[in-house]
Amino acid sequence: MCGIVGYIGEKEAYPIILNGLKRLEYRGYDSAGIALFDGKNINLCKTKGKVVDLEKKFSDKQSNKGSLGIGHTRWATHGIPNDVNSHPHLSNSGDLVIIHNGIIENYASIKKELLNRGYTFTSDTDTEVLVNLIEDVKKKENVKLGKAVQIALNQVVGAYAIALFDKTKPDEIVVAKLGSPLAIGIGEEEFFIASDASPFIEFTNNAIYLEDEEMAIVRKGRAIEVRKIKDDSVVAPYIQELKLNLEQIEKGGFDHFMLKEIYEQPTVIKDTYRGRLLPTKGIIKLGGLENYIEKFTNADRIIIVACGTSWHAGLVAEYIFEDLARIPVEVEYASEFRYRNPIITEKDVVIAISQSGETADTLAAIKLAKEKGAFVYGICNVVGSTISRETHSGTYTHAGPEIGVASTKAFTTQITVLTMIALKLAKIKGSISNAHYMLLLQELEMIPSKVQEALETDSKIKEIASIFKDVSNFLYLGRGYNFPVALEGALKLKEISYIHAEGYPAAEMKHGPIALIDEQMPVVVIAVNSNHYDKVVSNIQEIKSRKGKIIAVVTEGDTTVKEMADYIMEVPNTPEVLTPLVTTIPLQLLSYHIAVMLEKNVDQPRNLAKSVTVE
Ligand code: M6R
Repeated sequence: MCGIVGYIGEKEAYPIILNGLKRLEYRGYDSAGIALFDGKNINLCKTKGKVVDLEKKFSDKQSNKGSLGIGHTRWATHGIPNDVNSHPHLSNSGDLVIIHNGIIENYASIKKELLNRGYTFTSDTDTEVLVNLIEDVKKKENVKLGKAVQIALNQVVGAYAIALFDKTKPDEIVVAKLGSPLAIGIGEEEFFIASDASPFIEFTNNAIYLEDEEMAIVRKGRAIEVRKIKDDSVVAPYIQELKLNLEQIEKGGFDHFMLKEIYEQPTVIKDTYRGRLLPTKGIIKLGGLENYIEKFTNADRIIIVACGTSWHAGLVAEYIFEDLARIPVEVEYASEFRYRNPIITEKDVVIAISQSGETADTLAAIKLAKEKGAFVYGICNVVGSTISRETHSGTYTHAGPEIGVASTKAFTTQITVLTMIALKLAKIKGSISNAHYMLLLQELEMIPSKVQEALETDSKIKEIASIFKDVSNFLYLGRGYNFPVALEGALKLKEISYIHAEGYPAAEMKHGPIALIDEQMPVVVIAVNSNHYDKVVSNIQEIKSRKGKIIAVVTEGDTTVKEMADYIMEVPNTPEVLTPLVTTIPLQLLSYHIAVMLEKNVDQPRNLAKSVTVE
């Protein structure tokens, strides 16, 4: 959590850092701060609130000159969001200034020791402890900043991406990484530092992604120096050419990133299967899978680990894999899996799903599975992310940057990848007939146009949103492939509108949630053509008899549910296995419109952050 940005070069650092923080606000937005070196002093400005509040405070109060600086946008872990706990943090001497994304777990014992040695602290943060530990090492050992950082980091336990500089030697920024992402943009005689490449994409296409336990020193006009934190050995940095462009990280005329990302789905689903899905030839080509097919076909079972929306995509995959490829699947919350001493063997395949590729719990689950000998396959969106590097192999989703905190296009592209994997394995195993396989390949290719059709019902969904925007509770029901979609619909609504919503398997309703139903309760039921259609119709009757309000997602042309439901949201007819890719769309739009009507911050809902890099 938290976004970090830094700059050293000839340009004015302030606008680069400020814009960079705005782009990284998806990572945390409860407070922000910038430290600039103005040629003599560190000019520090920080505030509770968003980057726009920081911008205002800076322009009201102080100069923003200087070509060396660091900035931070925070998602609080240690210490409430307030001005004092905001980053950057100064050391006791006022010489060192640091920004940090992560958690120093043993900060309390280090703090105690530093207090005994006369250090004082103004904030409640672990970061202020770290900068003073570095200062203490620097003085005691009489070493340069880089060396002091290295010695200090060997004493800490936890996760970090840090950047700091020393005002007495203002020609370098020292950065280090363990468990939190850190990218270094390489310009002409200048360097950019950031949690991802978006803050510097208009300045350079060349970047280095530090690996865990690496640190680097960047100096204006000099070559970058990368070392291992543990043993100080020199590392030859790998410079990547970035594919990202500015357009991808801007709103492109939409009011919110979330809406833009919902509308991008026809395009990004196509991007995800482009070159991989060849229906006329009956081929699915997935580079990351080709050499490991036998791992899957010989596996005792597949275990899927993920969090949040990615976990819901995993649940959809459980249905698809078992149905088509006949491989047993278990889906686990990464946060539970990592701590429950699971039984994993070398005959298990673990699939880790993550949009960001940085989620701490998913990463820990991967490490555990690897230790136990399982083959681990990653499905990530962010290219070069930690999870994509930590897994044995994997497939990228190619959804492009997802900036809205509520995940939308990541979900449908994850399902697209998982469907392709399941189909490929089913074909190889012979668990699917050739005719069915060929049909599903063609149908998958048609999904983007069906998603587009579903998007075209937006104005109708907006009307439904206006009717229900003021209720306090929602129930979402689905069966089979659409049970996880019900969970996802409920998650979308609660995270951006703060309305309580629960997702349930439709048939499970009678075992408890039915008690909640009265004339106040809207129930969103996914009732598209499927094997369970008649059963879902019965569930709708049960709700109607108790006066619940039915909002049904139905297949175009449906008449039965249409007569029973109070409101309907139509999606094109699709083979059941592919329905989650279309039924999700109206649910995303419904939650979006309700949140907008309630004047909530759709892209940055309270208490959340886009990538959860702490446990
Ligand atoms: O980046 P990841 O896919 O690993 O993130 C997992 C969850 O944190 C994420 O899906 C979260 O639940 C979203 N806010 C849901 O919209």
